[in-house]
Amino acid sequence: MAKFITIEGGEGAGKSTVIKTIQAHLQKKGIAHIITREPGGTVLAEKIRSLLLDQGDEILLPESELLLFFAGRYQHIQHVIKPALKEGLWVISDRFVDASFAYQGAGRGIEEARIEYLKEWLIGDLCPDHTLLLDAPPYIGLDRIKARGALDRIEMEKIDFFNRVREYYLQLADKEPARFHIIDTRLCLEDVEENVQLWLRHLE
Ligand SMILES: Nc1ncnc2c1ncn2[C@@H]1O[C@H](COP(=O)(O)OP(=O)(O)OP(=O)(O)O)[C@@H](O)[C@H]1O
Ligand SMILES: [Mg+2]
Repeated sequence: MAKFITIEGGEGAGKSTVIKTIQAHLQKKGIAHIITREPGGTVLAEKIRSLLLDQGDEILLPESELLLFFAGRYQHIQHVIKPALKEGLWVISDRFVDASFAYQGAGRGIEEARIEYLKEWLIGDLCPDHTLLLDAPPYIGLDRIKARGALDRIEMEKIDFFNRVREYYLQLADKEPARFHIIDTRLCLEDVEENVQLWLRHLE
């Protein structure tokens, strides 16, 4: 059965790095899959990604931010995720709806019930089979991405914002232990990779 797997975590937590390990594993096993991302994943949703992440002169309000995320997500679900799962492909997505609860909910302070309403309306019963939460104190991830180059609009937020995001993710993982698996990405790359491999073996 095709699986829908999402990777969550803070900025620079190691999502893209871990996805490479997952991709190599699936290729080796001959498991047909797609790797995709949020915000983005379709031509239009990638344009929305730029609206969300690029620095502009006009302040993007939290409510507008939330709706843009959901607009892109809906395009992504209908045009990419659902068709792929229907074809029997595994779908690996770099972030999904948990991120809206963590960033726009816990981070920006939008009432959870409002996000829940959008989720029920637009996502319905599409739920990841597994979610890998990459966890590290925000300053570690931010230091790692700073070394990579200029920060995007969301990465410019203050550390308190990212601490709230991290706490929310950890609480969610605690509430849904069957779906979540946490990997400590404070560890060196080799150890993280080994833990991802162990988790992947347990999935089959
Ligand atoms: N466990 C680790 N130890 C040391 N460096 C790491 C580790 N994991 C990732 N990195 C490095 O940290 C940087 C950020 O990693 P990566 O791009 O995978 O994070 P990300 O979660 O995808 O970031 P973003 O939120 O920007 O998408 C990269 O330069 C990567 O090589
Ligand atoms: Mg990334």
